[in-house]
Amino acid sequence: MTTLVTGGAGYIGSHAVYALLDRGSPVVVLDNLSTGIRAQVGEVAAFVQGDVADRALLKRTILDYGVNAVIHFAGSIVVPESVADPIGYYENNVSKSRELIAACLETGVKRFIFSSTAAVYAEDAVQPLEEGARKVPISPYARSKLMTEWMLEDVSRVHDFRYHILRYFNVAGADPKGRTGQSHPVATHLMKRAAMVALGRLPHLDIFGTDYPTPDGTGVRDYIHVSDLAAAHLLALDALEAGAPSTVYNCGYGRGFSVREVAKGVERVIGHALPVREGPRRLGDPPVLISDPSRIKMALGWKPRYDDIDTIIRSAIDWERRFNA
Ligand code: UD1
Repeated sequence: MTTLVTGGAGYIGSHAVYALLDRGSPVVVLDNLSTGIRAQVGEVAAFVQGDVADRALLKRTILDYGVNAVIHFAGSIVVPESVADPIGYYENNVSKSRELIAACLETGVKRFIFSSTAAVYAEDAVQPLEEGARKVPISPYARSKLMTEWMLEDVSRVHDFRYHILRYFNVAGADPKGRTGQSHPVATHLMKRAAMVALGRLPHLDIFGTDYPTPDGTGVRDYIHVSDLAAAHLLALDALEAGAPSTVYNCGYGRGFSVREVAKGVERVIGHALPVREGPRRLGDPPVLISDPSRIKMALGWKPRYDDIDTIIRSAIDWERRFNA
């Protein structure tokens, strides 16, 4: 009864791997190491280097390890990159997911957890966002995620195959035990960049847009600690094992922080001022993204442990310090 974690050497995937191992659940990681880092999951998990699109390798891995469930993290995640390279994104996020789902059907794997995104919702949808809110993904990245959601839906209608789709809001922070964290060398995320500024590795934090229709003019996001998100995956997995029907869940805390509020939080944590530079909006950034997490709380009993902005910031800075040491 092993769980196959694709993209398990990446940021969120590695947290899920540790969460599974911490409770004694057998895991095999499949990662092509295009952005993942082998050391991120150390020697603790069984590791297969390879691609999700390699059907023969997948089937061998599933049979060799007795895999009965898949958590599919592998994919490309940078929105502007997806605009510049749509074919690459549809290849990595849609075509390869298709191969993985097909391999599951061929080998009798009936349970599947999929990483989706809050970016599938329409920009003018009512906040906080419920799972049923209107979907209008605008970037190839978001569209590729919604396409795979549809694929899962269609497949589960005609096969003995159930899924849970988790739509992530803004994932941040790092493993409280310091085993893994955000290690991607190209930092675009606010929390990662703020941690780098806090440690003097970037000269200042850019604030992208101060004229949004928000209380302080800067973008508002629902930051969720990556360990709470990893825990949500385990609950989703257990629910599928127990026979729960295929469902979509938002993963966020249901409250938002502006860019300025995050910067203030960093100042509280480090005890001195954070250099910031105000600039124009970043193309494609919506003003506000806040989840309604009622469904996952009710259906899966998800209880966040790290819903505190200073805790999230502190863990991001701790990891940044360790990562670069
Ligand atoms: C992130 C995810 C996206 C996901 C979304 C869900 C990535 C690359 N992005 O996007 O996949 O769908 O969450 O909510 O994984 N900002 C600054 N200065 C910076 C960086 C960011 O002001 O240096 C601002 C942005 O304009 C935005 C907020 O901070 O208002 C968060 O930005 P970011 O951390 O990049 O995440 P999202 O763009 O929201």
